[in-house]
Amino acid sequence: TTYKEAYRPQFHFTPKSSWMNDPNGLIYLNGNYHMFFQHNPDSTVWGPMHWGHAISKDLIHWDEQPIALFPDSLGWIFSGSAVYDENNTSGLGKEGKMPLVAIFTHHNRKLESEGRKDYQYQSLAYSLDEGKSWEKYEGNPVLKNPGIVDFRDPKVRWNVEVKKWIMTLATKDRITFYSSPNLIDWTKESEFGEKVGAHGGVWECPDLFPMKVDGKEVWVLLVSINPGAPNGGSGTQYFIGDFDGKSFKPFNTKTKWIDYGTDDYAGVTFSNTDRLIFLGWMSNWQYAEKVPTEKWRSAMTLPRELSLEIVDDEFLLVNKPVKELKKIIGKSKSSKNIQITDALDLSADIAQAEGKFQLKFNSATIQDYKIVLSNDNNEELIIGYNKKDNQYFIDRQNARKEIFEKGFGAVHTAPRLSRSTSTDIELLFDAASVEFFADGGLTAMTDIFFPTQPFNKLQIKSKEGMLLRTLEIASVQSIWN
Ligand code: FRU
Repeated sequence: TTYKEAYRPQFHFTPKSSWMNDPNGLIYLNGNYHMFFQHNPDSTVWGPMHWGHAISKDLIHWDEQPIALFPDSLGWIFSGSAVYDENNTSGLGKEGKMPLVAIFTHHNRKLESEGRKDYQYQSLAYSLDEGKSWEKYEGNPVLKNPGIVDFRDPKVRWNVEVKKWIMTLATKDRITFYSSPNLIDWTKESEFGEKVGAHGGVWECPDLFPMKVDGKEVWVLLVSINPGAPNGGSGTQYFIGDFDGKSFKPFNTKTKWIDYGTDDYAGVTFSNTDRLIFLGWMSNWQYAEKVPTEKWRSAMTLPRELSLEIVDDEFLLVNKPVKELKKIIGKSKSSKNIQITDALDLSADIAQAEGKFQLKFNSATIQDYKIVLSNDNNEELIIGYNKKDNQYFIDRQNARKEIFEKGFGAVHTAPRLSRSTSTDIELLFDAASVEFFADGGLTAMTDIFFPTQPFNKLQIKSKEGMLLRTLEIASVQSIWN
């Protein structure tokens, strides 16, 4: 594949053509990372949902596969997860082949149009050839709808303490946990969240997993919400607490966000891995169907490794691009002890990069700064820090002159969560996106942008002046060729 269209990401996954939203069924198996995704193959807007499929050996280079799951008489195929049932608890394995099982939501348009509430329910499909071909389970659905309009996005994981599968399901304004010995018979265990967290919209695409910090195990619950994100539209909040195999108890009720930018949604983690790899949809329901790409719509974020850090007795999620990204980072131009007095022009350093580059710096102090990308059409994207409010920001107000959606051009902010006096940042620019990781990934922001001409100028500005201990800039290779 060569991807040359305007705004086509060069190191982020996009489908060859048509509409994509949430990542689904993320799983590692026998040397391959599988990514399934919400896909409408017949249009560049949302519609009858299928599961598209792509495979990668390194989480960076992706190979799109034939569509995995098609709509059927029970409905469209909404979001869900996949597990490797290595002990054949489901009995769906045959002749010694253990099944890869997808647990997804069927969305029944006919029942919906009849004004019923029970049009979403959970079903299974399985594969005995590592995801190449799929059979729907003949007893679908495996979890019927009890009369809740939003009842979807099952994320299933084996729980070693209770030795059962646990399903984390988004049920309107809360999460409902179910357990099962075999992926087929499900028992309701508990609910969480009716009075906790952000509730500006419906809860979607949850994930629940354990993490270790300082030898202690804690549980992380991710909950996407649409709308109600801190910078508008859809976003992903998280809670940290305990899970005893039945119910989730948060340590406190503070709402935290995994990425404060506008364009990281419905992200969940891969199953069957020994590290936590998180991947999100790099768009926002507020404008996803209107962005000015022609052949396809939407990309995924970079896969990120999650870890935990404790700041002021609070557990915080840290996210950083997976280490495999290094493979495609070119030789960096690095300098030490750079004094920025007013503005430092780096345009020459990005001239060859065709919009794809990594910028990193490290500073012993933190002052106001702005990283400005611009073009000859007076469009600019500004990423920076504002000491007065102790906030990072991405300003895309002037990133595009032509308006395709009225809320798109805005300034997005994120709290600086680190207490350190020093700071470091990593920025990854692709054709139409920036991923910003500050303070080792303690604050992350992802935003997409669509200038009418590519940005070809880069400056770092600091009115007060700022001394950078190190500054690195490198081009990023395309993953398509
Ligand atoms: C989240 C979401 C899910 C749903 C899917 C439908 O973006 O709304 O809740 O399963 O998209 O495509």
